[in-house]
Amino acid sequence: MTTATAKPKKKKIQKHNTKFENKKLSTSSRRYLERQAGDVWSEKARKEGYRSRAAYKIAFIDDKHNLIRAGRKVVDLGAAPGGWSQYAARKLGSKAGIIALDKLEMETVNNVTFIQGDFNDEAVFEHLLTLCPDGVDVVLSDLAPETSGVANLDHLRSIQLCEMALDFALRTLRPGGDFVCKIFMGGEEKKFMESLRQHFEKSKFEKPEASRAESKEVFIVATGFKG
Ligand SMILES: C[S@@+](CC[C@H](N)C(=O)[O-])C[C@H]1O[C@@H](n2cnc3c(N)ncnc32)[C@H](O)[C@@H]1O
Repeated sequence: MTTATAKPKKKKIQKHNTKFENKKLSTSSRRYLERQAGDVWSEKARKEGYRSRAAYKIAFIDDKHNLIRAGRKVVDLGAAPGGWSQYAARKLGSKAGIIALDKLEMETVNNVTFIQGDFNDEAVFEHLLTLCPDGVDVVLSDLAPETSGVANLDHLRSIQLCEMALDFALRTLRPGGDFVCKIFMGGEEKKFMESLRQHFEKSKFEKPEASRAESKEVFIVATGFKG
């Protein structure tokens, strides 16, 4: 049986890696091999009907922290094309209470309410708040800026999205609720993590296996909202 978190079988290319054991790889060879390994997750996603390999990132985090549980209400920010929403909907079934947002269109996912809009737009932010009148249990953010190629700029844009997602989480989470947020590392992430400590019992960085090693992305998982 295949489960969402089961590690995909290695491709031939990874077997060849053994040739390189004990040898120092050039940066370009290492990147090439890492990209090949990354494609294994895309292939697994295709086979299992997930729209993106990103589904395995939230599956990895959920496996470790048990965030998506029956009866919990979930908000998925930066949801398109829908891998995280699909994962949550599959786990929660027909009783799922999931709200997803993205500025891009997203094909319907059963049991998920999708809002198309820019999270930076105050009206969109407020609208989303009105959809959560009784609060929610989990706020997930895979929001990512369009990358410019300038690492520091991408980092600062990512931090800005994280701060907005946190603002939304602080206004909607019920006590005991959880927050997951993608962040592009670049120096400010520690300060952001510090700001979470006053609101959550625990917070830590996670780097899921499906996240490319060369990517600057990491995920902050903050659990136990103090309210
Ligand atoms: C890495 S993708 C999300 C992948 C998704 N979690 C999945 O599993 O398929 C990041 C998403 O963030 C969205 N995004 C970035 N900035 C946004 C904003 N200001 N408002 C709404 N969505 C935004 C992008 O449109 C993009 O679809």
